[in-house]
Parts: sequence; C-alpha cells; structure tokens
Amino acid sequence: MLVLGVESSCDETGIALYDTERGLLSHALHSQVDMHAEYGGVVPELASRDHIRRVLPLTERTLKEANKTLQDIDAIAYTQGPGLSGALLVGTSFAESLAFSLQIPTISVHHLEGHLLAPLLEDNPPAFPFVALLVSGGHSQLMRVDGIGEYQLLGDTLDDAAGEAFDKTAKLLGLGYPGGPALARLAENGHPRFKLPRPLLNSGDLNFSFSGLKTAVLTLTNKHQPLDEATKADIAWEFQEAVTELLTIKCMSALRETGLDRLVVSGGVGANSKLREKLNAATSRKLCQVSYPRLEFCTDNGAMIAFAGAMRLKAMQTNDLQNHHFSVKPRWNLAELQKP
Ligand code: KG4
Ligand code: ZN
Repeated sequence: MLVLGVESSCDETGIALYDTERGLLSHALHSQVDMHAEYGGVVPELASRDHIRRVLPLTERTLKEANKTLQDIDAIAYTQGPGLSGALLVGTSFAESLAFSLQIPTISVHHLEGHLLAPLLEDNPPAFPFVALLVSGGHSQLMRVDGIGEYQLLGDTLDDAAGEAFDKTAKLLGLGYPGGPALARLAENGHPRFKLPRPLLNSGDLNFSFSGLKTAVLTLTNKHQPLDEATKADIAWEFQEAVTELLTIKCMSALRETGLDRLVVSGGVGANSKLREKLNAATSRKLCQVSYPRLEFCTDNGAMIAFAGAMRLKAMQTNDLQNHHFSVKPRWNLAELQKP
C-alpha cells in the first residue's frame, strides 16, 4: 500500500510517499526558518499562508521523484495535532479533500507519534518494547513504547521543553532563530569554565526542569557584560553540557527502571551531537542499544507522518477508516492514543 504523508503542524511543510512493501520512496520538505528568522520566532499566520503555497508543489515533486501518480496513492496520512491550528488546517484540509476526490481513506496522525516512530525508518530498526526520549521544541518526554499506540508516559518536563530551553538560551546569547543548532555550533568553540545547576538530577523520578538553567544563564550573562565571543562560547558549552547530561542520566534511569535495553531518541534536540555522544557512551557501557533517526528526520518532516500513518493503516479494520469529516487538535495528549 502506498501512503502519502502530509506534515504542516508548525514551520515546515513536509510531504512523503511510504510504501508498506518497499519503504520510503521519496520525500520533500520546505522549511520556513528564513521567513520567521527576522521575527525571532514562528509567526503563526505567516506559517499557515506559506503552507498553502508549498503543499501542492511539494506533493507534485514527491510523486514525480517516486515515479508515481495521484491514482497510485492508497491512503493519505496527515498531522492532525498538536501544533498551530491554522497551520494544521492547511495540511488537514488538503489531505482530506484530496482523499475525498480520490475516494481513498485518510489516517490522522499525532505529530509526536510521528517523531517517536521516525527512528524505525532506518535500517535495523529497534524492536518493541523500548524507551523513547522525545525532545523537541515543545516536548521533553520519556515514554515506554510497547507497540504502535501503546505509550506510557514515564517522565515529562515540569516547565520548558529541552528545545525551548536551547532556543531561549540562544536568544540570551544574541544568537538567531532557531537557537538550538546555533547554540550547538557556538558551544564547539567553548571550554569548561562556568558551572550551571543540574535541576532535578537527583529528584528520584524521570521528570525534567529546564527553566532554572535559562535563569542561571541570564545571571551569568548579566555578570559578564559586555559579553565577548569567548565568554559566550563558554556559556554555550556549559549549557549544552548541563542539558545533555540531564537527558542522558534520566534516559539511563528509565532503562534501569523499566528493565528494557533499547532506547530510541527523536525530535529536533535528538540532532544534537553532544547528546548523541553522551548517549552512545552511556548505553554502550550498559550494553544497551540506542537508535536515532537520520539528522534530517529529527526535525519535522513528512516521512515520519507517512510512516506512522502506514503503520496504523496496516493495523486498522476497514470500518475504522475515516469518512472525510475532519477537525484539527492543536492540543493533543500522546497518552490518549490507543492501539489501532
Ligand atoms: O522536532 P522539532 O523540529 O519541532 C517540534 O516539534 O518542536 O524540534 C525543533 C527544536 C527547536 O527547539 C530547535 O532549536 C531544536 O529542536 N534543535 C536543536 C538542534 N537542532 C534542532 N537543539 C539542540 N541541538 C541541535 N543540533
Ligand atoms: Zn516536531
């Protein structure tokens, strides 16, 4: 079965074709980063309008690359939420109306389920069950994953998400948007010089808290005015060290507590090389396996939505398929999902 995937929850339009027999056939992405950069963050109305401009050309490109036509598509998967409501509506109404005209089913996908399953697009995918660390701009969660739709929340952030902390700290250091990759680049020139706190490190649970780190960075930057480049890089180094250390230690605790030996990392912060370095070292010491999506599938993309949709489609009964009445879910708790 051939599934078209449509992602438009935030500032990336992603389209992909996933074949349940042959795997990922093609994918195309347009990032709005340059457009939002001058505002220092995502402007929702501009995001929606840009999705409208991109969705058709990207779909045509994806079909052409795979040497397929609209008539070859068996189902359309799209992100129903969580995300920006206007942006979600573009992908949702596009997917539902195209499916209606082609008389094929649609599968609404939870954006985080897309991220969570993205590492399974790679060779040698991990088997269920596993522990998943989901670290994006809006979420920092540890989950126990027993199968598609079988997700148990183990730990969550009490305040900022990891990506949000990277973005806010980058702003304090005068870096552009999105801050995560910019801060990671700056940290490469930094050295151990400052010491930031490690919030909730010994809390005895699997929760995170990152907002205190950002405040500690603010105090540091105020103390070292005017900030020279070397000081900025040293602050970035220590901030990245603190966040990646916290994430790694909590991942290892989650593996220990669940008794599982497989870890899956997904979401934009999963692209961070310091995090990967620390997780690789810690998991290999404990003889555990760790899997990541390829770098381009850490951040938002259509491939993960096509894949999650295809997995759900395979498990669905024909009478579970949707009848083209649709809504979006700008707020949607992953733990509400059920087995297909
Ligand atoms: O998963 P994603 O594309 O969007 C959400 O669903 O939120 O994640 C975007 C987040 C942003 O906060 C961005 O700064 C962060 O991921 N990010 C990184 C890196 N690449 C992206 N954070 C740290 N290091 C990176 N290399
Ligand atoms: Zn995302």
